Amino acid sequence: MRKKVIAGNWKMNKNPEESKNYLQEIIPLVKDVTSEVILCVPYIDLKCMVKHAKGSNIKIGAQNMHWEESGAYTGEVSGSMLKSIGVEYVIIGHSERRQYFAETDETVNKKIKAAFANELKPIVCVGESLEQREKGKTKEVITTQTRLALEGLTNEQVENTIIAYEPIWAIGTGKTATSEDANNSIKEIRDEICKIYGQMVAERVIIQYGGSVKPSNAKELFSTSDIDGALVGGASLKPEDFAAIVNY
Ligand code: PGA
Repeated sequence: MRKKVIAGNWKMNKNPEESKNYLQEIIPLVKDVTSEVILCVPYIDLKCMVKHAKGSNIKIGAQNMHWEESGAYTGEVSGSMLKSIGVEYVIIGHSERRQYFAETDETVNKKIKAAFANELKPIVCVGESLEQREKGKTKEVITTQTRLALEGLTNEQVENTIIAYEPIWAIGTGKTATSEDANNSIKEIRDEICKIYGQMVAERVIIQYGGSVKPSNAKELFSTSDIDGALVGGASLKPEDFAAIVNY
């Protein structure tokens, strides 16, 4: 059976002082959970979070990275830089990066490969817009994004990729996909992986749901056959809310 993996995505929130206080509050609240718990935080908080999460069951991730190792890329941070300070995970291809920062399926694929080259575990986001959903294109959009993101990876790398299915219309809007809908889309993603990489890989890959996950809907979402956890934005900003989701 696949384990649940629950990741918080703080987006552009909290400074190092605030992140340290947050950790002090949440560590005792999640100390007995069996799920994997990850916090993906702004670059500026990473070092402090890695230091203060040591010895707890919380893992730390970044929210983006560049695909090159180093060079003239003003404002960017590489996978080897993240690795050097003890970061273990990295979100790649979040819809906000696709929408506001020109992230494409091609750059997502390059970043995933660079993440593996630096022994970072990627959390790769896919998801349809409201317009695409209304035109009946959800399956086509999410399976194509998945296929292009994973292109050229080994079976082992695919198994170690976490995919987050995040319908764009559900992100930060308070609108959650129904657990049945989200589970169906996640099955479609798993079927696509099965077609390319085989059943064993498809059965092992962790696929999360994201989009307005909160303490009140976590349990229902996580009781489905194929939803293996969540990528949580807004509700991860308060330790008591995120802990309630993790302890669903
Ligand atoms: P939300 O964000 O939980 O605030 O909807 C989810 C995400 O963007 O990862």
